[in-house]
Amino acid sequence: MENTEKKKRILSGIQPTGTFTLGNYIGAVRNWGQLQDEYECLYMIADMHALTVRQVPAELRKRTREAAALLLASGIDPAKSLIFVQSHVPAHAQLAWILNCNTQFGELSRMTQFKDKSAKHSDNINAGLFTYPSLMAADILIYNADLVPVGVDQTQHLELARNVADRFNRSYSPTFTVPGGYTPKLGAKVMSLQEPTKKMSKSDENANSYILMLDDPDTIVRKLKRAVTDSEGIVCADSENKPGITNLMSIYSVFTGNDFAAIEREFSGKGYGDFKMAVAESIIDTLSPIQNEYKRILDDKTYLEQTLKEGAQKASYTASKLLEKVYKKVGFLQF
Ligand code: TYM
Repeated sequence: MENTEKKKRILSGIQPTGTFTLGNYIGAVRNWGQLQDEYECLYMIADMHALTVRQVPAELRKRTREAAALLLASGIDPAKSLIFVQSHVPAHAQLAWILNCNTQFGELSRMTQFKDKSAKHSDNINAGLFTYPSLMAADILIYNADLVPVGVDQTQHLELARNVADRFNRSYSPTFTVPGGYTPKLGAKVMSLQEPTKKMSKSDENANSYILMLDDPDTIVRKLKRAVTDSEGIVCADSENKPGITNLMSIYSVFTGNDFAAIEREFSGKGYGDFKMAVAESIIDTLSPIQNEYKRILDDKTYLEQTLKEGAQKASYTASKLLEKVYKKVGFLQF
């Protein structure tokens, strides 16, 4: 895992707070598998980030396993990429402390996710929720990642990681790679099926607003049928006036490879009912094989554990080397 190879390095993460949504899949996970040949990839299950909201311990453990199985089923190949659990690599937390001391209260206060989550969990505005972006910066910087593939909702955190890296490099000496973003052209923000001006999110109270990667075909069809559209009845892209239809067109485009003009032609003269069924089918066709593979992997406990152990060992090796460098630079006594 030396970064001297020609391949650029990628790091990304996902929280194990429930089954991934179609938004997670299209905005992030789907692309992770596709990047493995061109880049050296590290993919992480962000269990430490999940703790910023209250978790039931047994559930968190279960969901972490499930998240790993779902990532593997979605095409992450441990022969090509590292897949590991964040808490298994202590260097993330160790670097996060140092970055905390190089991050300003003001810049953390401006994070929209902090504001949103504090409003949503007003009885638990903990320090971890506030310093979450420093931990995320540590996740990225500890591997000197060049690129971070994320959906649009994470770009503000990534910007903060870039600022912190740059500040540290100037205060001490060049240490961290300043990472770039990598957002997909289409699907970087999959919208809620019920309120298509809002992001699709698994924490939404209305289960009809999101599709989960493990939803069965009937559920997917039902949720699509209920998806909010408009009264015009014409399948054409217009994110301002027709956010619902435009969101469904984006999903359909990602799964079929057809662009908006081709989709408009395909459904010209047809109603929203036909279009919604076609979108549902494209989702089912994509998710069904992943769901089957998921069940197989989740049943294979030994394989799953072995894969995560190996991932953590290799990631720890790389991370601890950078941490040592950082410890030296900030003036910690070393023997
Ligand atoms: P998380 O777990 O909320 O989401 C995982 C990934 O899914 C993307 N995503 C979406 N993309 C498009 N449309 C949507 N509706 C949608 N909802 C979610 C997210 O942008 C993300 O890419 N803080 C991160 C996890 C993390 C991380 C990191 C990511 C921890 N450390 C280091 C990158 C690098 C998070 O909570 O993602």
